[in-house]
Amino acid sequence: MSGSRVLGTGSALPRRVVTNAELAETVDTSDEWIVARTGIRQRYVAGEGETTSTLAIAAARAALADAGVEASSIGLIVLATATPDNTFPATATKVQAALGCQGGIAFDVAAVCSGFLYALATADSLLKTGMATRALVIGAETFSRILDWEDRTTCVLFGDGAGAVVLEAPSGEADGAGILGTRLHADGDQHDLLYVDGGPSSTQTVGHVRMRGPEVFRHAVVNLAAVLREVLEDTGVSVNEIDWVVPHQANARILDATARKLGLAPEKVVVTVHDHANTSAASVPLALDVARKDGRIKPGDLVMLEAMGGGFTWGASLIRM
Ligand code: UT7
Repeated sequence: MSGSRVLGTGSALPRRVVTNAELAETVDTSDEWIVARTGIRQRYVAGEGETTSTLAIAAARAALADAGVEASSIGLIVLATATPDNTFPATATKVQAALGCQGGIAFDVAAVCSGFLYALATADSLLKTGMATRALVIGAETFSRILDWEDRTTCVLFGDGAGAVVLEAPSGEADGAGILGTRLHADGDQHDLLYVDGGPSSTQTVGHVRMRGPEVFRHAVVNLAAVLREVLEDTGVSVNEIDWVVPHQANARILDATARKLGLAPEKVVVTVHDHANTSAASVPLALDVARKDGRIKPGDLVMLEAMGGGFTWGASLIRM
């Protein structure tokens, strides 16, 4: 049986665009280095009045409009973020209040860049058990607020944004649409390769992102190729049958290397990293929304979502749109 169905998608970006050239005015970097090593040309950075919740709310409203459903029909909100507005309550509850659909379930998921995959799998599972019939699954981040803007090895890589998906419980329709298979993994031994050096219980500060980039890169290609193969095996789908891969957008070179490892045609990979940079949990739903709205991803297409991030955490999900 298919899993939950995608009814609509939406996304939101802050007003302000920051180019590589602008960053080169304040840190020792260059447009040439950033483009060659990452593919990133610009990122969006939240300004006054813009927070993870305001971006999440805008993305959620866009997804509801795209799906053509009322907010009152949403019984579950799962929001993936590593940059919540507050330590608590969950940013998902702010979204719920803004949409006016109180009374259902709302909580955040913390799996950093894989957060959207974790949130999607959690929502799918809850919908299948009958806890709700419709869900909003959101990835929203303001990573600009946890960057060390003097550290050129991290500050050039990230951006802010949000993406959202309206998900509906499996209805048993014959078209086979829905989530076909998902695999999630974590390896807590890799904590020190990508983490934030602060938190309420350790330093009582928010902290800054720290990353050993080349080591994360190597793990990412291996883990992503492996988890994609697992989902293909679980679902009995061959790599050639995939219409689109919507990956986490950390680095264009990771996307190329993973596609090569799997024998996947590079033109099937949705790439938005040049425009958005790495928006952590927001990157997969943002890219999914871009590719649906520009007409690349169509109803009936087989779409593979995949991501890897701090923890490490990683995962993949195959969806018939
Ligand atoms: O979202 C979670 C998952 N995250 C990822 O998947 C990120 C994975 N890692 C990466 O994408 C890449 O490792 C980076 C983009 C972070 C770095 O690219 P790299 O090709 O691995 O570069 P590197 O760290 O090996 O650094 C090469 C050189 C170094 O100089 P030396 O030691 O060769 O003289 C760095 O100091 O580039 C230097 N460098 C920079 N130069 C200009 C590092 N950052 C910069 C910079 N501008 N922003």
